[in-house]
Amino acid sequence: MKGWSFAVLALAGTAMACSLVPGAVAQEGVHGVTQARPWMDARLSPDRRAALLLAAMTFDEKVALLHGPMAMPFGPFTLPEGAVGSAGYIPGNARLGIPALNESDASLGVTNPMLVRGGQDMATPLPASLLLAATFNPEIAFRGGAMVGDEARAKGINVQLAGGANLLRDPRGGRNFEYAGEDPLLAGIIAGEAIRGIQSAGVISTVKHFSLNDQEHKRMTVDAVIGEAAHRESDLLAFQIAIERGDPGSVMCAYNMVNGVYACENDQLLNRTLKQDWGYKGWVMSDWGAVHSLDAFVRGLDQQSGEQLDPQVFFDKPLKQGVADGTISQARVTDAAGRVLRAMFANGLFDKPAVRQDIDFAAHAAIAQAQAEEGIVLLKNDGILPLARGAKRIAVIGAHAEAGVPSGMGSSQVTAPYRESPLLPVRAVPMGGEGQMAMWANVIFHPSPPLAAIRARIDPAVTPAASPFAPPPPSRVTFSPGNYPAAAAQEAAAADLAIVFVYQPSSEGDDVPDMSLPFGQDALIEAVAAANPNTIVVLQTGNPVRMPWAGKVKAIVQGWYSGARGGEAIARVLFGEVNPSGRLPVTWPVDESQLPRPAIPGWGQPADTTTRIDYNIEGSDVGYRWFARENRTPRYWFGYGLSYTSFTHANLNVAGGKTVTASVDVTNTGKLAGKDVVQLYLTTRPGGPARRLLAFQKVDLAPGETRRVTLTADPRLLAEFDGKAHGWRIDGGNYEVGIGPDAGDIALRKTVRLSAGTRRP
Ligand code: BGC
Repeated sequence: MKGWSFAVLALAGTAMACSLVPGAVAQEGVHGVTQARPWMDARLSPDRRAALLLAAMTFDEKVALLHGPMAMPFGPFTLPEGAVGSAGYIPGNARLGIPALNESDASLGVTNPMLVRGGQDMATPLPASLLLAATFNPEIAFRGGAMVGDEARAKGINVQLAGGANLLRDPRGGRNFEYAGEDPLLAGIIAGEAIRGIQSAGVISTVKHFSLNDQEHKRMTVDAVIGEAAHRESDLLAFQIAIERGDPGSVMCAYNMVNGVYACENDQLLNRTLKQDWGYKGWVMSDWGAVHSLDAFVRGLDQQSGEQLDPQVFFDKPLKQGVADGTISQARVTDAAGRVLRAMFANGLFDKPAVRQDIDFAAHAAIAQAQAEEGIVLLKNDGILPLARGAKRIAVIGAHAEAGVPSGMGSSQVTAPYRESPLLPVRAVPMGGEGQMAMWANVIFHPSPPLAAIRARIDPAVTPAASPFAPPPPSRVTFSPGNYPAAAAQEAAAADLAIVFVYQPSSEGDDVPDMSLPFGQDALIEAVAAANPNTIVVLQTGNPVRMPWAGKVKAIVQGWYSGARGGEAIARVLFGEVNPSGRLPVTWPVDESQLPRPAIPGWGQPADTTTRIDYNIEGSDVGYRWFARENRTPRYWFGYGLSYTSFTHANLNVAGGKTVTASVDVTNTGKLAGKDVVQLYLTTRPGGPARRLLAFQKVDLAPGETRRVTLTADPRLLAEFDGKAHGWRIDGGNYEVGIGPDAGDIALRKTVRLSAGTRRP
């Protein structure tokens, strides 16, 4: 919003004596209480309420809202008094009834870092956000978000550090599992809907990490270099769409530099783009340990989080000194505090404080399972799937399938209560590179074992062993841990079919060094496939991986990190109880040689060296756009995914003008009900070929059913960003668009005429 400022209304220092505690205020409602605290009148707009409250605040009270510590015992630091225990804490104000901010990670569920709330504090782990993006289903993203918001409230947490919207630019990214893929439209919609879901529960959500935190390796010192147009058309567009759809109360700025300036003190990013161009009304909080100077405050950062991790608590005494010296204005302090308060009012933090209550874990696990079932992607099927329940003898192999499904690692990891898993004790693994995040790199398997789920379908009468020390029950489904390829091959040879589970750990804090499957799992698959021609591979990875064995197995299922009920979801897909409908949210390269940067920038360089990543190589042509532009053929394109039924698209009609609207008939031509993802792409613009996802919709069709689907493009996807004119520009002329099953197969095409137009940034 232009001209956003609370300064006019602020009567700094007008302290109103009042002894009410926040909870009492909220419950007593509008009358009576509002005379002393007029901002508690919920009929007023959040802007008005924030302005009224600011008018009652002293300068020091405003500054107190602008910084806070970690909310867990960490090294010499103890849990701040009054904090629930989570990632971060901003103390409240009893005099004015301002609730404290208890801030917890993340998109995948409510975390319990370092078991700060005790080993019994459980939360429901959702599948990876990359799996969520593979659902292409905004509604299911909203439901997951609402579930996380609900659990956060039940734990007394009112800020969820969620909404990962960074683009997947490299299939080795350690944090890609927390993000929503390579395309700005898909990532923006999925992250935006998850944020909207969280906030529907009365909990503020962030969107993060603004911007270009697309590489974990050397994330604290890396300089992401990109031209303005390319940035606006890619990563920034993902954030812009997520913010428009989700209206997050806060934006978390990133660790890395953007064009030579740290993201948390980047005037171009925070003041000009986010606050001025986009009119963002919420507040910018720092990532934990991402603040390098007091200048950040003038350059757009409103709040210093996890302040012990920075060289100084810049946003306390130094900030006050800056105001006293006249280098920082009072108005800017009021503006920053007002942004925090406004978001708190807008999301009900004053009116409906988070209250501890019981959680319906069964209902919530069902949401996690529904996401997993829609986001698992069938990559290859030579007719072996779905499995018949009458299958005689199945060899299940590898990846701790007897224990559960892997989770991604780092601050987003939903920890409790699985640390106490009797089957697979948690190990802290120092990751590659600098190993700086070893504390977080816990190998955790959520206890939803695929083995048990498969056995239940083949031998329903067999009950699982009561303890890890009991002998395994007799079953037609055998299990081999897969540590030794020869032993696994022996099991496979004795079975009718083999299902090999493989996994790739990936973590916040560093990237995986390359696209290979670790732990000798390629050799395991090769050995099993050589022993049994009916081999199925279930991948559980945070990224695309090399698959040298792809031609030798009958089916490949991408299970990602599948969350609380992942094993059940995988089994339901394998047995056809669920018809797979996930589509890849990332292009799957054959190997690293096809990437814009075959080697990870900075890999092997000493820690602390500044590494430059030149994102201008691909610019805004991320993922499938890069492959299309360079005429490279990946193993699988963005949007790809098989089904147990088949779909056709016909009768494409397109209309032009200011944007493109396309209608198409989708028919389920197979014998099973199934869901298709109708994808509309731009293929040519007046300047030449261009590949961009313009719109998508998931449709559920009965066998033989035809539905007409109409899709309208967000005009920014047809435009170029014009730096000189400072806005989006659509050139008048002919545009070719098309419908196809993925970004590399767009057979049904039509040309449409668009009128020239511009749009504000
Ligand atoms: C991560 C953030 C997270 C924060 C608090 C940081 O290391 O980058 O995503 O929200 O820690 O746990």
